[in-house]
Amino acid sequence: MGATPPGRRRFLAAAAVGVGGVIFGCDGDSRRAAPDAPSTPRLMPEGLPLTALATLHNESPDPSQFVATLVAAAGPAAPLPGTTTSMLLYNGFAPGPLIEINERQHVRIRLDNRLAEPTTIHWHGLPVPADQDGNPMDPVPAGTSRVYEYDLPPASAGTYWYHPHPHETTAAQVARGLAGALIVRADDDPLARLPEVTLLITGLRLSPDGQIASDDALDWTVGRQREMLLVNGGRLPVHTIRPGATERWRICNATASTHLRLTLEGHRLTLVGTDGGLLGEPVAGLTEVLLAPAQRVELLVTANGSPNGRYRFRALRFEADYLNLGTYRDQDLLTLVTTNETSAVPFELPTSLRPIVDLGPPVVHRLVELDEVHDLCTGKGATTTFLINGRIFDPDRVDFAAVAGQVESWEVANHTAMAHPFHIHGTQFQLVSRTVGTVITPAPYLAWIDTVLVPSQQTATIKVRQTLPGKRMFHCHILEHEDNCMMAILDVRPSPS
Ligand code: C2O
Ligand code: CU
Ligand code: CU
Repeated sequence: MGATPPGRRRFLAAAAVGVGGVIFGCDGDSRRAAPDAPSTPRLMPEGLPLTALATLHNESPDPSQFVATLVAAAGPAAPLPGTTTSMLLYNGFAPGPLIEINERQHVRIRLDNRLAEPTTIHWHGLPVPADQDGNPMDPVPAGTSRVYEYDLPPASAGTYWYHPHPHETTAAQVARGLAGALIVRADDDPLARLPEVTLLITGLRLSPDGQIASDDALDWTVGRQREMLLVNGGRLPVHTIRPGATERWRICNATASTHLRLTLEGHRLTLVGTDGGLLGEPVAGLTEVLLAPAQRVELLVTANGSPNGRYRFRALRFEADYLNLGTYRDQDLLTLVTTNETSAVPFELPTSLRPIVDLGPPVVHRLVELDEVHDLCTGKGATTTFLINGRIFDPDRVDFAAVAGQVESWEVANHTAMAHPFHIHGTQFQLVSRTVGTVITPAPYLAWIDTVLVPSQQTATIKVRQTLPGKRMFHCHILEHEDNCMMAILDVRPSPS
């Protein structure tokens, strides 16, 4: 989806000038809620056609360069008729514009921070130099700009995302709108001829006054709860497809803490890619695909061959509601509608996609233990908090020192009562196995990932190799956990040779 259809662009661009219906809304919506419940936020219009993400424009005439500017600024949005919600926008959009770059391009993106607070842009999952990674030790003060500049190595094609990563305020900035999708394309993409759809899933929770609700004590404990799920900024959009046609869906979970068990009624899904791009071979016949916070997948969806069908693309409840909060419920994401055309010629799935080489035998072994405690990190109201190896995040401390190029094995052991999506900056890694008690389950296939979900009382064993020197964060990607102590630093030293 290179180009944004002009109508959609105009619809989204309303955000930049503060016209009504800014992000999710539309002028003249006929389904305005009755004015009898002023204190209850009314839902934004549902069931509009799926909106393609706006695309970040490349300002460079030289095709080997990608040069652009992202302006982060507060702006009015109108998710509810008659209400103005202050959100944080990238270039006037929430979610931010889709960045599409090629593997061999030199990237230079300027961030203009017009927020009233420091921010950064973190290029989640991309192997960029440590000083270009937008980590919390490298803030861009309010009212200033900086340029992020990097080259992407070969074979980095995949679906990524960008989001702010300032010290202790990442959750708040993402909840107010700052997040966007980023696609790195390869010249030799075996699926290049398939139509593509990018679906960025975000969460929205408004307080009765129509403003983005702040995190409360419960959110700070288990991650932001009770969010309405939006797809490309819209609630329950409708996506139309010819019967029997195959599309490539790139899906990014940009929510703070919602685990999405993706399922499409009446269909099986084919997994072809994970965080770091294509798998070795397609994995077909799936009834559901679990997408933890921060993870991405690429799915091939072949629409049912019957015309005029309606199928719900849903996020099923992931976890037992062990705290009895009434959360973790099923939510519909999108409605897939088949047209009345005749069935499309079936797409022939390639048997192999892109070779993935095992990282090989590790030379360093590390244990990363996730624990819950009750008396630390309670400043934001959390009752239970979570630590990595018993320590509170300290930006001035190095937790692990590694050597660039060396393969390491990390055992991430979750001793807590909830699942944590564990993320490492700077590289893609490989899941080796999962262990529960004495039962070890090897990973079913090789895949490049940057975030691994570690359920309660489970140990995930991964293999990691950093290639670039510098300090890298590793943390839980429930954003409230990341902001509230559950983060640490890996210092990658240059290889001695
Ligand atoms: Cu999405 Cu520290 O990252
Ligand atoms: Cu990251
Ligand atoms: Cu966590």
